[in-house]
Amino acid sequence: MKYEITVTKTTAPKQKPTDEKSLGFGRIFTDHMFLMDYSDKEGWHNGRIVPFGMIPTHPASTVFHYGAEIFEGMKAYRTANGDIQLFRPMENVKRFNNSAARLCLPQLDEEGCLNAISTLVELEKDWVPHSEGTSLYIRPFMYGNDPHLGVHAVANATFAIICSPVGAYYKEGINPVKIAIEEEDVRAVRGGTGYAKCGGNYAASLRAGQKAEQNGFTQVLWLDGVERKYIEEVGSMNVMFKLGETIVTPALTGSVLPGITRKSCIDLLKAWGYTVEERLFSVDELIAAAENGTLKEAWGTGTAAVVSPIGKLYYNGVTHVVTDNQIGALTQKLYDELTSIQWGKKEDVFGWTYKVCNG
Ligand code: COI
Repeated sequence: MKYEITVTKTTAPKQKPTDEKSLGFGRIFTDHMFLMDYSDKEGWHNGRIVPFGMIPTHPASTVFHYGAEIFEGMKAYRTANGDIQLFRPMENVKRFNNSAARLCLPQLDEEGCLNAISTLVELEKDWVPHSEGTSLYIRPFMYGNDPHLGVHAVANATFAIICSPVGAYYKEGINPVKIAIEEEDVRAVRGGTGYAKCGGNYAASLRAGQKAEQNGFTQVLWLDGVERKYIEEVGSMNVMFKLGETIVTPALTGSVLPGITRKSCIDLLKAWGYTVEERLFSVDELIAAAENGTLKEAWGTGTAAVVSPIGKLYYNGVTHVVTDNQIGALTQKLYDELTSIQWGKKEDVFGWTYKVCNG
């Protein structure tokens, strides 16, 4: 089912960035955005693409007071032959609905949600950058906006999509990042919202992230919230380790985000013949592997960062250097393979790409 969408084009289109090398991440926005309203009486209605701008919201809205908000992160790529394509977009749509269910936000029709994303991307196709490593980051989000202060499942919500032409997420680009293992704060607990992509998880991560940055690290590596023993995620990414010839990644226990890049890396690694263990992986096991030399490579995976090598791991006063602070061969291979599929440079044997329109 497709939602009805009206389109009001801007009368004042913005200048598109001319220097695609310095796009950075999420600072520039396109000319239009998508909005659609929900009420328990009318369901989803008033789907509209309008000029990008402020969204008037009632000051008592649920999102401001109780954090009723979820989001997704996906990218549109300009391929070698000029088409504009998405990567596994239905995975994002399904995860969005799972996040919505956890936060008592309304469900979206899957086809309708994907159609809203594609319609906006097609309208903004000239904003999809051309340079290598760049893309149009798509940020669908939903928030509750009941105009009263009672704590209840929401009866009114808004679904919105904004787009931003981006380059690398980290200033390091594909160079190794420095990660501090966080020993005080935790990001999520089982039974909580860790598996949902909701703003609150990221709000809870900010203090440790700020402390890590102040100490010269890029991001933190989270331990589980109960025993503070098992590795969960790294900053805004999932994490994987090459121990000897085996790949280990934290199991999806409920407090870990089910990443789409994570899933794609697992599929690729298995197709290449690697054993991938999704299991509980303790920080003690990690540090022992770093000390005895079995830890060969470590990397984060995420839509924004793609595959990001970890060059240094700080824990309990000691910095452990991984892969001589260089990009490991397997990390590089995963990055190359994924980005080649995403940018249409390589045949997509998995059927992961989704064409939106001609460029
Ligand atoms: C992504 O990788 O798309 C994310 O959502 C991470 C982040 C920028 C919050």
